[in-house]
Amino acid sequence: MLDSPMLTMLKIKDLELKNNIISAPLAGISDRIYRSFAKKYGAGLVCSEMISATALKYNPNPRYIVSVSAHEHPISMQLFGSNPEDFEQAVKYMEKLGADIIDLNAGCPVPKVMKQQAGAHLLKTPRLLATIIATMRKATTLPLTVKIRSGWDNSSINIAQIAKIVENEGADAITVHPRTRSQGYAGTANWELIKLVKETVTIPVIGNGDITSPENALNMINETGCDGIMIGRAAIGNPWIFHDIISYLTTKLIDREKPLAQRIEVALDHAQKLIEFKGESTALKEMRKFLIRYFRGISNASYYRTKLSYVSDLKELINILDEIKNQQLE
Ligand SMILES: Cc1cc2nc3c(=O)[nH]c(=O)nc-3n(C[C@H](O)[C@H](O)[C@H](O)COP(=O)(O)O)c2cc1C
Repeated sequence: MLDSPMLTMLKIKDLELKNNIISAPLAGISDRIYRSFAKKYGAGLVCSEMISATALKYNPNPRYIVSVSAHEHPISMQLFGSNPEDFEQAVKYMEKLGADIIDLNAGCPVPKVMKQQAGAHLLKTPRLLATIIATMRKATTLPLTVKIRSGWDNSSINIAQIAKIVENEGADAITVHPRTRSQGYAGTANWELIKLVKETVTIPVIGNGDITSPENALNMINETGCDGIMIGRAAIGNPWIFHDIISYLTTKLIDREKPLAQRIEVALDHAQKLIEFKGESTALKEMRKFLIRYFRGISNASYYRTKLSYVSDLKELINILDEIKNQQLE
């Protein structure tokens, strides 16, 4: 199936991914159920939510966040933190859990992580970043990757310097989300900076940011020359995007509208699997954000959006899904 120059196998150190389309780390979202859907629809690599290297010291068994199932390999497990010593142990722990790749988060902009001088804060402290990567490198022979943003703010874009550090300290690939920390998710990702990183390092570069369709997935590859692409928000409640991108890159065909029956079936399957994993009450609360996305754009969407935002048990969900099915068929 890899008969397109754009859809390629991706080799990170000695790990060969079946393709270069990657499901992003998403805190509060990319648990093992989410990842299983990304995998089912073709993602070549799935990524865990970020995990605190420091918290692992005190609670080496955080219940859901590090749960990995046998069928989801290869999986990248992501750590964040700012104390180099914590990473040695954390990396060993990730190895034991079965990580195939260990990733360092040097891009998260949220205040809770900034307070710990971790995530995107590391872009401000390149020496500390280098020490953490070197510590991780020493602690494992697994493929090691780093996910970065373009800089702290608009006046301090240091992405080329950071990318060079990542490579020099022994990382095997780099993921670039070219927004600054201060941008959060506002504005657009500056894909020119992915191109700049590609021209700066020789390790594989994974481009990320604002891929919302098969067409702009191809645009990112064409415009930046990146070796792989990573999809985050656009895959939430839309796991088909991986299949659609693969299909477009190989055949230029897109099967754009997902039949309602298929959306209902996958959403229900997702909910049932999440219930098995986390129990009905937690699962349904967590499902709400997915359900809203699964049914985005259906007729009477705002009415169903409200209903799905309050769903609290499986029976109620099944009733709403029946109502959606019947109403859309009228
Ligand atoms: C809800 C949410 C949670 C995220 N959690 C993480 C995370 O745990 N680790 C990380 O490196 N990036 C995280 N990100 C950033 C995404 O991985 C990705 O870089 C960003 O959303 C841009 O890609 P996109 O435009 O395809 O969504 C998160 C983003 C969102 C929206």
